[in-house]
Amino acid sequence: MILPAVVNVADFDPERCLEKGQVLDIPDPHHVVRGSIEWLSSQGLLKKIDGCLRASEKGKTLFGLASAIRDYTSQYESILAALEVLLGWRDGPVPALPKIFENGSRFAIDALIPPAVTFLHECPSRENPKVSAGALLLAGKTRLREILPEALGSREIRIFLSALRKRDLLQFRDHDRLGLTDKGKKVMVLGGFAGLITSYYTAYPHLTEMAKGQLSYGLKGDVFRHAELNARASNGIIEIKVAPKIIELFREDATLSQTLAECGGIALDFGAGGGEMVQKFLKCENITKAYGMDINPATVKEARRLAARNGIPEERAEFLEGSIVDRDFLRTFKSGLGPGVKPVCTINFILHDVGPKLARRFLKNYREVLGDAPLVITESFRVPLKTMEDHPDQQASLFKFMHDLSGQHLYYKQEFEDILGSEGFETKSQVSHSSMHWAREDKRFKTIVTYVVQARADTQKGAYGDASLCA
Ligand SMILES: C[S@@+](CC[C@H](N)C(=O)[O-])C[C@H]1O[C@@H](n2cnc3c(N)ncnc32)[C@H](O)[C@@H]1O
Repeated sequence: MILPAVVNVADFDPERCLEKGQVLDIPDPHHVVRGSIEWLSSQGLLKKIDGCLRASEKGKTLFGLASAIRDYTSQYESILAALEVLLGWRDGPVPALPKIFENGSRFAIDALIPPAVTFLHECPSRENPKVSAGALLLAGKTRLREILPEALGSREIRIFLSALRKRDLLQFRDHDRLGLTDKGKKVMVLGGFAGLITSYYTAYPHLTEMAKGQLSYGLKGDVFRHAELNARASNGIIEIKVAPKIIELFREDATLSQTLAECGGIALDFGAGGGEMVQKFLKCENITKAYGMDINPATVKEARRLAARNGIPEERAEFLEGSIVDRDFLRTFKSGLGPGVKPVCTINFILHDVGPKLARRFLKNYREVLGDAPLVITESFRVPLKTMEDHPDQQASLFKFMHDLSGQHLYYKQEFEDILGSEGFETKSQVSHSSMHWAREDKRFKTIVTYVVQARADTQKGAYGDASLCA
């Protein structure tokens, strides 16, 4: 995703200093531009010297090609439009991709890889529509006829598959078979990450307008990430690592298992996205009813659709629209449960989305309305810029770029724990799902962590009276 960042920085370099090897000063850059600069720095294309920017040799070449690169990035929304139809999310003929995407250039391939991986990751297979084409490929199936839907002959699908082949992710075995390479398998396992990257294809062409304040980013703004993809975007990591671990905690962590067993067996997931966590709740024998809530109506609709597709009745899993900072939502939810019923709540990958101010407001409301109801929080953390620069191939820097451009606030781990502590929460336990090793300093940063927290007794408003008496 370096292309949109190159265009974004080039737009603030009218004299083309960077391609000439001269220094460039962008005073007080907007967070979108700062995100682009840090992302390109982590990729070794830019360096900050005395507060000014200078391009590396490789960077100079790319900045010299900025106007050609713009031809590709300005078309990202048409790639997304084709993907939506290919996945059956929108009716009608597949919108034709511009011809430049057939030329096999490096820029065309860079632009096509995330949507192409997303296509395989999300596309229902012809053999079994409940299983995606990507999952069948991962399981070692190779017959095109079994894997791909009928639109097999579509020019756009061929363009996607060809980009994957050129990037050595896919092999064509013969005219009727294809298979993932070892590299392709690694990418497909975390196909949700490609979905996350693709969900911002709505925004990448508009970084400069966003940075200049001509377009606003947000759910109610001019530009927002693609709702269905966003609903599924963290599914890779949620499904593979986080949700199974949380279910394990529900069974084994004393605070959680006791609350579920004695206080009604209710679980609520805040910012539920596509409802992956909510569906997993129902695998836990202690849970009688699962709830999910999300601010985005399109996402709530998608979560309901996915649950229905898996045969889950509404009496078992309900998806509600609401905001995590809406105190009335919490009050209504609590009173709807009946006296003394105490939920166990989860909130995964949301508190960075809303930023520290709203995260604090959520925690305060939670403790004041739900008292000592246990809360399970999963967050992704950022690592220092120098660590990202030393490890350009790791996801951390691209992850941060996407959060910078959308104005989200990835926390440092300590910063987040300070917020929990100062808002009156005590950490009962924590588990780490992934970490990043910084070879130069031989340090390890935890990048995804799940916490089990509870409001400290001295900070609650006695929402449930005696904590040990639930019903
Ligand atoms: C990165 S997704 C995470 C989804 C899900 N928790 C997961 O881990 O797969 C962020 C979700 O938070 C939702 N969200 C953002 N702000 C919210 C708010 N104030 N209240 C409720 N949901 C919110 C978004 O609509 C989106 O579905």
